[in-house]
Order: sequence, then C-alpha cells, then structure tokens
Amino acid sequence: MNQDLLLDLQNLTKRFGRLTAVDDMSFAVTRGEVLGFLGPNGSGKTTTMRMVTGFLPPTSGSASVCGHEVTRDPIEVKRRVGYLPEGAPLYGDMTPAELLDFVARVRGFAGPDKARRMEKAIASLMLEEVAHRPIETLSKGFKRRVGIAQAILHDPEVLILDEPTDGLDPNQKHEVRGLLNELAGDKAIVISTHILEEIEALCTRTIVIARGRLVADETPEALLARSAYNGAVRIRIGAEQMADTVSVLTSAKLRFIDKSALNSRASLVVQFEDGDERDLEAVVANALADGNIGAAEIQRERGRLDDVFRSLTAGS
Ligand SMILES: Nc1ncnc2c1ncn2[C@@H]1O[C@H](COP(=O)(O)OP(=O)(O)OP(=O)(O)O)[C@@H](O)[C@H]1O
Ligand SMILES: [Mg+2]
Repeated sequence: MNQDLLLDLQNLTKRFGRLTAVDDMSFAVTRGEVLGFLGPNGSGKTTTMRMVTGFLPPTSGSASVCGHEVTRDPIEVKRRVGYLPEGAPLYGDMTPAELLDFVARVRGFAGPDKARRMEKAIASLMLEEVAHRPIETLSKGFKRRVGIAQAILHDPEVLILDEPTDGLDPNQKHEVRGLLNELAGDKAIVISTHILEEIEALCTRTIVIARGRLVADETPEALLARSAYNGAVRIRIGAEQMADTVSVLTSAKLRFIDKSALNSRASLVVQFEDGDERDLEAVVANALADGNIGAAEIQRERGRLDDVFRSLTAGS
C-alpha cells in the first residue's frame, strides 16, 4: 500500500430514507495535504465526515484510513483519526482537563505519557485558564478549542475537523490556523468550513460538494482562476464620474463584471472580452486618460472564492 495515501473514499454513499445525503463520493487524500471541504448547508459534509470516522455506517461504498476500511477495522481507524465533530463537545458536565484525561485513558495512554499529551493539547489550544471549569459553562469558542484538543491528543495521522474555527474570535482563528499549518506536514487534514478566506489561508486543495455530490476538486488557486473576477480590474472613482467612466470603458470594448456605488464613491470591475492579450490595467488607464477621467484608483483583482462557490453550487 502507498504509505502516503492516508484517506481513501470509494463510491461512499449515505441514504436517509428517500434522501441521498452523500451520493457516490470518491476521493483520496495523501500525507501533507490540507483539504478544504466546502458545500452549502445540508450538502453532506458532516455526513461524509461521520462515515469516514466510523460514527455512521455508509449505505454503500467504502472509506479507508491508512489502508484500514472503516466498517471492517473501526478500532484501527479510530486509532489513526482525530475527529472534531460539529457543534459542542459531549460530556458538558466534565471540565476540559477531565475530558482530556478521559479521552486519553480510552485511547490507552497512562502515566507520564498521558500527562505529557494532555499538557501539550491544553497548551496548543491555550486552554489553561478554563481547564478546570465545566465545559457547558464555557463560551462557544472555548468549547470549540476543547473539541480540537481532544482530536489532536493522540497525534493522529488523519485529522477530520468539522468547522474547526466556527465561533472563534479573529485571534483564535489565527492561532488555530497556525496550529493546523504546523500539524499539516506529516498528516492528512480535512476541514469543512464556510469561511472561504480559511481555504486560502490553510488549504492545499479544495473539494466542493453540492447535494451530496462532488462538483470540484482542485487547488484554491485553480478555483480562484475560475472566478469572473480573476485578472479583472477594479476602478474606483467619484460617483459623479460614473456615467462618463462607463461610457469610455464601453467604447474601449471592456465587459462589466460589477458596477456599484456607495455614498460618493463608485466602483466598476471590468474584464476583456475573451481572448484579448493586451495589458488590461494599461488599457483601462489609457481609456480613462482619453476620457479625461482623473483621480481614479485602478486595482487588479485576484478572483473571489464566494463567486466561484455560488456558481458551482447554484440551485442547492
Ligand atoms: N441522521 C439523519 N437522519 C436524516 N437525515 C439526515 C441525518 N443526518 C443528516 N441528514 C440530512 O442529510 C443532509 C446532509 O446533512 P449534513 O449535516 O451532512 O450537511 P452539511 O453539509 O454538514 O451541512 P451544514 O453546512 O449545515 O453543516 C441534510 O439534508 C440533512 O438534513
Ligand atoms: Mg455540517
């Protein structure tokens, strides 16, 4: 078996009655990859993650972790997977220290090894100040951090994290992303998220699903390149210059992707009609100069994931 193939889904399917929540999903994740798992609400992300981690039996198909098929070798799979479920951790009446101690013992750790692992998890997620308060009394962000701590306690090769930064403040989001970046090297990490900037900050690859089916599997850069905004130019002008600017850019045979005005400022995003090889920024600057439109700011756009996400999942 390929030692770097850590996660392998083949035709994984889950039906709940007449609803097909996960529909013939196949993909593999190798060591070092951080996979962003995207999809609208109800598209099957959590259901997929629950099947991969052995918490929900598939209707058909298979999921393997480090070569162990989850329904055949659930124990081997659980040993190699860290899972952060959606929502708050179970056992709300325990403190984080008690929960981590419990999880560590269930996983078979004892003595100084157990103590060291607990300490490391508490320190990584900066849980010291809440370690001895009941989990149910903690804020949403701290509950999330407790969930991540229990997922990394046994230093698993595969991490499956269902919306890991949901509810975290910007500082903690940054910390948790840093932690995941550090962990990434020799693991396979799958994170579901609705925060598209997280994909760019963290992921080496993106899978988009809609209605249980895979609709895209590529790098974040390739996904951005699909955006109508990719390589387009944004022009910011005074609102009173809007009509004249639209007129000169239309004469220059540019296509408008977006037009908006807020208070006294207006913003236009333009692109060439397909296949033009000229420098768009220069063409825009020349057109504005010819039309005597001064004080414009011109800026190249990288593309927008939300725009790509919407077009890929339209109708779901
Ligand atoms: N135990 C269940 N019984 C019946 N239907 C279920 C069950 N679990 C999930 N579903 C349905 O399966 C579909 C996929 O749900 P899932 O929770 O996997 O979506 P999701 O992509 O994680 O959504 P979100 O972004 O809101 O977390 C939904 O229509 C959901 O209602
Ligand atoms: Mg979910």
